Amino acid sequence: MKILVVGGGGREHALAFAIKRSPLCSELFCAPGNAGTAQIAHNINIKDSDIDAIVSFCLENRIGLVVVGPEVPLALGLVDELNIRGIKAFGPSKNAAQIEASKSFSKQFFKKYSLPTAEFDVFDNIDDAKNYINKKGSPIVVKADGLAAGKGVTVAQTEAEAIDALKEIFIERKFKDAGNKVVIEEKLEGEEASFLAFSDGENILPMIAAQDHKPVFDNDLGPNTGGMGAYAQAPIIDDELRQYIIKNIMQKTIDGLRKEGIIYKGVLYAGLMIKDKKPYLLEFNCRFGDPETQAILPLMNSDIVDIMLASIDGNLASKTIKWKKKYAVCVVLASGGYPIEYDKGKVISGLDDVEKLDNVYVFHAGTAKKNSDIITNGGRVLNIVGVDEHFDKAQKRAYDAIKLVSFDGMHYRKDIGNKARKYLGIKL
Ligand code: AMP
Ligand code: GLY
Repeated sequence: MKILVVGGGGREHALAFAIKRSPLCSELFCAPGNAGTAQIAHNINIKDSDIDAIVSFCLENRIGLVVVGPEVPLALGLVDELNIRGIKAFGPSKNAAQIEASKSFSKQFFKKYSLPTAEFDVFDNIDDAKNYINKKGSPIVVKADGLAAGKGVTVAQTEAEAIDALKEIFIERKFKDAGNKVVIEEKLEGEEASFLAFSDGENILPMIAAQDHKPVFDNDLGPNTGGMGAYAQAPIIDDELRQYIIKNIMQKTIDGLRKEGIIYKGVLYAGLMIKDKKPYLLEFNCRFGDPETQAILPLMNSDIVDIMLASIDGNLASKTIKWKKKYAVCVVLASGGYPIEYDKGKVISGLDDVEKLDNVYVFHAGTAKKNSDIITNGGRVLNIVGVDEHFDKAQKRAYDAIKLVSFDGMHYRKDIGNKARKYLGIKL
């Protein structure tokens, strides 16, 4: 079967890597891909949000399965458009993608189905929103309703900061129509974790838990990014908590959506805050996480294409996933200045040496090929993943490998994975 992966980040390189290993995959394409996917797939020069061009490409090339990485094409209805033309696509429909694309939709859904989450209200004008902030006081969290590439959330320490966030959304229109409404909610304390599951609309097949690192600097300082590193499996979610999340959050959500007339197929990703061993939902994403996927997929021993097809066909109940009994630690190498302003086009050195290492995976994100060089082409550039039975060795493998790679301005967090150590009895 010919398979197309839509997207061009580290997540999509990791997906391409897992799909390529499947005996069900005869030929692999990536739109638009990056210099890493070019090594294992044919890159197609089509933007991930260009729905018409993707549909035409699939028809012309008899693509048997499309795997959609990012949220934007899902929210634009790529899966619906492909399905209308008889092309199988892995991911939720436009309607189902609202679970990520509209925070007001998802929060109201959480309330209706008694899913544990922060207390909140939704506003469509600045005056009512300001009054609510004045009534509730700080700290408080202000969220643009729609998709904002991870930049629409302000965790405000003061009321003034929260009101500045409202001004950006309602007056400066920083997020355009994604800011037509805001969700304002109570700030939750605790430690975050990412829990992803495949769904076929009725049954779920959970993955191993992961933990992302959103702030740009060590010790969670600085502005939020798309994610500076991740590891799996995350020991903050022990067996008991895992079973609780599967039953009371993931399955309950899929069942609730079905009651609302929404058949949710694809990956459902819960962003959780864990406090005193209890999970609270920060948000749902309608797709694989980036960089969580880069840590999760190297540990998967089952055929991902078989699972994706079962999700589409409603057969997940008959599937299981085998996982390696190992840990994976993924460190993101970013461009100087990311997540604010950064240059592109810096030559990357050392990749050949890293690719030779055992138990180390390199997933490209913002990279491109220029003549014989691989150059930087985005904010998050590379993902270096170390794998080992022992958590600290997985961490060391990733950081030792990074010593071999360089590009002008490269920066990365030095503490990816440190939060796991307390659960595993490993000293810092
Ligand atoms: P979201 O896109 O809703 O997941 O928010 C992005 C990030 O903002 C999360 O990963 C958290 O770090 C933070 N955040 C969101 N909501 C809250 C909350 N209610 N309390 C504390 N932090 C939050
Ligand atoms: N790792 C955060 C995200 O994928 O949204």
